[in-house]
Amino acid sequence: MNVLEAIFKRRSIRKYTDQPVSEDDLIRLLEAAMAAPSAQNARPWEFVVVTDAKVLSDLKKALPFGNHNAPAAIVVCGKPNSITAGRFWVQDCSAAMENILIAAVELGLGTVWIGIHPVFLLEKGVVRVLKLAKGVTPLGMALIGHPAVEKEARTQYDDQKVHWQMYGGKRD
Ligand SMILES: Cc1cc2nc3c(=O)[nH]c(=O)nc-3n(C[C@H](O)[C@H](O)[C@H](O)COP(=O)(O)O)c2cc1C
Repeated sequence: MNVLEAIFKRRSIRKYTDQPVSEDDLIRLLEAAMAAPSAQNARPWEFVVVTDAKVLSDLKKALPFGNHNAPAAIVVCGKPNSITAGRFWVQDCSAAMENILIAAVELGLGTVWIGIHPVFLLEKGVVRVLKLAKGVTPLGMALIGHPAVEKEARTQYDDQKVHWQMYGGKRD
């Protein structure tokens, strides 16, 4: 599969089969995550991999919009630091998250990004469930599994959102 195909094929999957995700696949996804660009290469990220049914269930309780039946999750966390390159932790961790979602397509896996940061109550719930260390903030959770539904590949390209040369400029 080429990269553009994978980008268009990535869709949010909210129904999964019972088949577990192999550890090899989870490691591959983490390798993809940690290939993401990072401001000053600070890599202010940490990842919590969850396959334990009880922890998954607790996470889903803490994240009401993440209550989908995936057998695995990777919680992408950041270590914000207002002085160093860690200032860009949201961008760095978001790039890592997107790499996970796109790499999963290549592995035949489905994913959905469940938002956590900047909603304080969601962050608090995840910090409690995962016992995150002080200074570690959860950015989002990728639910991962074998898809039980198919979604069409697509872009949502919209001319109205594109400006040429200057804001409001049209294409020649
Ligand atoms: C920051 C962020 C937070 C999201 N949070 C949730 C969520 O809590 N629950 C969910 O089911 N989908 C969530 N999504 C997935 C979006 O709903 C989805 O990407 C959007 O509807 C477009 O559909 P697509 O991913 O199939 O292209 C989130 C996506 C992003 C980028």
